[in-house]
Amino acid sequence: MQPSPLSAPHLNPNLLGLTPSATLAINERSNELIASGRTIYKLGLGQSPFPVPPVVVEALRQAAAEKDYLHVRGLRPLRETVTEFLHRRHGIERQRRQVLVGPGSKELIFLTQLAYAGELLVPSPSWVSYAPQARIIGRRVNWLPTDFAHDWKLLPETLDAHCRATPGLPRLLILNYPGNPTGVSYREDELAELAGVARRHQVLVVSDEIYADLDHSGRTASISHHYPEGTIVSTGLSKWCGAGGWRLGLFSFPEELEWLCAAITVIGTETFTSVSTPIQYAAIRAFQGGPEIEGYVSACRKVLGALGRYGRQTLIQAGCRLPRLDGAFYLFPDLTPLQEKMASRGLKGSVALTERLLQDTGVATLPGEAFGRPAGELTLRLSYVNFNGTSALAAIAAGETADQEFIHRHCPETITAIHRLADWVAG
Ligand SMILES: Cc1ncc(COP(=O)(O)O)c(C=O)c1O
Repeated sequence: MQPSPLSAPHLNPNLLGLTPSATLAINERSNELIASGRTIYKLGLGQSPFPVPPVVVEALRQAAAEKDYLHVRGLRPLRETVTEFLHRRHGIERQRRQVLVGPGSKELIFLTQLAYAGELLVPSPSWVSYAPQARIIGRRVNWLPTDFAHDWKLLPETLDAHCRATPGLPRLLILNYPGNPTGVSYREDELAELAGVARRHQVLVVSDEIYADLDHSGRTASISHHYPEGTIVSTGLSKWCGAGGWRLGLFSFPEELEWLCAAITVIGTETFTSVSTPIQYAAIRAFQGGPEIEGYVSACRKVLGALGRYGRQTLIQAGCRLPRLDGAFYLFPDLTPLQEKMASRGLKGSVALTERLLQDTGVATLPGEAFGRPAGELTLRLSYVNFNGTSALAAIAAGETADQEFIHRHCPETITAIHRLADWVAG
């Protein structure tokens, strides 16, 4: 008998085996445990702990009555402001026409993968959504190896070797720095070398710079400085502006890739139409900068830097190894040096490790496997964001220094969670 057209056999085969993102799954499991009365430290979800800057909230309030559909590429003054921002703050030279405003950079990355018929290259580890997006579309995914010794960074020779093995294929490389899950960034000279290889093999690059303004030292580096013609720069409001739920992401294209921008624009007209109009007006204020915004971002960096350094050091003392820390709000401990000890506790891979940690310590983290690491490796990601960002920012504004005493006072839950992890590892 033929299956009914309304039954599961008619699921798009690309979706078979895809499960909800690991981030959402750990969040649900944590909520279940909370409902059963347990104290859970949520270090699983990668959301900014800070409020949206008040001047940006005010701009949104002022724009609340704006109701018309906008041009699919976005409000012209916003695209101009973003082009100026990328130039002023990140030294990226682009023309206004080539900015595309989308409902989150995640969606723009997906639409790029849809529009560009090439295989996906992502360093392992990389953010959880790149590879599933490629699978949904039916693209081939290639995880490029990295290692702890090189701070989990993609090396130019690795990219070169991959491209040489099957020359001439269309390829899309997504490079994210400061990186989720590692917190590591690339230096300008490293990006220059990668750019050289990408240019030689004509690899299209999406430079995911969503955390670029949360580099703890305020440094900026971009592969687009070295390979402007082949690089799309991705940014947005979600991380540095604390506005993940506002769903506004931005792509900046070089003129040479106008054909791709045009193709994604067409998909935009047939799908999301345009990003929420009031949000676009408010985003203009965010990207205009000025003392309120600079002060806000600088305070966020100070708090995240101090907390990240403390967490990294505490976990290293407990026996984990961690890469250098440059930015964002993630730590990526690797328990490989404690492999035997973990095996004696019956733990052989990252999924089992994170489940046991949640059970034993109440700390929710994500397994390295969700980021493309081998299942048997003992890596995990933690987001050090479960603290009250509003009061931390108020304390910085009142003149407090973001030192160890500060983070103990203003981020007590995160500190407790890190110590619980460290004690469990060392125990
Ligand atoms: C590396 C990375 N890229 C992109 C995104 C998506 O951000 P957006 O909110 O702009 O869709 C995230 C969000 O977690 C991320 O961590």
